[in-house]
Amino acid sequence: MDNILFLKHLKESLEKNTFQKLTLSKYVGAERTLLNIYIRPVEIRKQRMSSWIWHYQTRDVTKNVAMDTFAEALEPLLGSEFLSADLFTSEADYSLLFNKKRKAKLLIKKSESRETPVLTHDRVKKRTFSPANADYLNALGITNNEGEVLKEGQKKFRQIDKYIEIIDSVLRKHPVGHKPHIVDMGSGKGYLTFALYDFLRNSLGLEPSVTGIELRQNLVDFCNDLAAECGFRKLDFQAKDIFEYESEKLDMLIALHACDIATDIAIAKGIRAKAEIIIVAPCCHKQLRKQMNPVTAMAEITRFGIMEERQAELLTDGIRALLMEANGYQVKVLEFVSVEHTPKNLMLIGVKHKASPAALQKIADIKAEFGISEHYLEKLLGTVNRVPHS
Ligand SMILES: C[S@@+](CC[C@H](N)C(=O)[O-])C[C@H]1O[C@@H](n2cnc3c(N)ncnc32)[C@H](O)[C@@H]1O
Repeated sequence: MDNILFLKHLKESLEKNTFQKLTLSKYVGAERTLLNIYIRPVEIRKQRMSSWIWHYQTRDVTKNVAMDTFAEALEPLLGSEFLSADLFTSEADYSLLFNKKRKAKLLIKKSESRETPVLTHDRVKKRTFSPANADYLNALGITNNEGEVLKEGQKKFRQIDKYIEIIDSVLRKHPVGHKPHIVDMGSGKGYLTFALYDFLRNSLGLEPSVTGIELRQNLVDFCNDLAAECGFRKLDFQAKDIFEYESEKLDMLIALHACDIATDIAIAKGIRAKAEIIIVAPCCHKQLRKQMNPVTAMAEITRFGIMEERQAELLTDGIRALLMEANGYQVKVLEFVSVEHTPKNLMLIGVKHKASPAALQKIADIKAEFGISEHYLEKLLGTVNRVPHS
């Protein structure tokens, strides 16, 4: 009887739009590595749907199920494949537990969270997080005590907002599972690291673990204290050179405006850790500029200092993108923040894909044309002189 009651509460929450998420656990079915199913509401092409994530030991599979068939799809799983189901709504939380004899027991308690769910799939232009709900923005000097963005915090806030919009759009196409492991290299004062954690945890309902790596001990201490104050249990910061950082497997590697070759180190670390997603926004570009000596008429253009600087930037980031492609990533390059705010505005987004060894020949051609001996990322990846023979 209790499972029928559970389904009734589920249907009511869908009708009243109070549904937040549903988790199935204690799997007893035939699939060896299946652990849980996580279900949350999403909006796809203006239509409300439920997003189901089958969480296996080493991978996740996502499917969307129409809201009107949600309860129907769930019913046969209760008590036969999963012995526990937790329904969270903005009014109450419902736990359905089955004993060994598959007898159901329903426990109901008042909801801990009264927020209405945020639908993620089609929220293209909607603000992805609210400054009023983010206490850390106040501590970081971006908002006042009322949660309003301060005049001097506007620029940074727009950057955070754009960043979260980009992350949201990348994750919609390339979900990284319910418990993604993310590293942010060169996290600085942590603005973007906190916003990322908050967005993943509180808007997407994931359970991320996010680590910021930063050289400066005082910033790391500040960020760790703030994370503890905010109750962000799985957000931590470590004081070290990113060169020293080692991780076996990463879901996402991020490096935003990490200085000069720190971007290359971060990309190489991401590739080595087989990160599903690599996101970098390069900063200054010194390494290639010193080597550049075009053998073509391009030399007539790069003899002007500012043009040489811009050409060096293009080459540095262009070769980075090609090296990521050669190493198994599909790469997009987009404008992170408008040039009106900062000239350091490119963002490279790589998502795991099949490797493109042909990219190495393209790099060799470009280097020959510009008289470049070695890009630092090639050195880190050991790809120099590994151009395939045509
Ligand atoms: C321009 S700040 C960007 C901070 C932050 N990512 C943002 O976008 O707001 C770059 C940060 O990277 C740190 N950094 C530079 N090289 C690093 C390295 N090799 N290891 C760790 N941190 C590094 C610097 O100390 C600095 O705080």
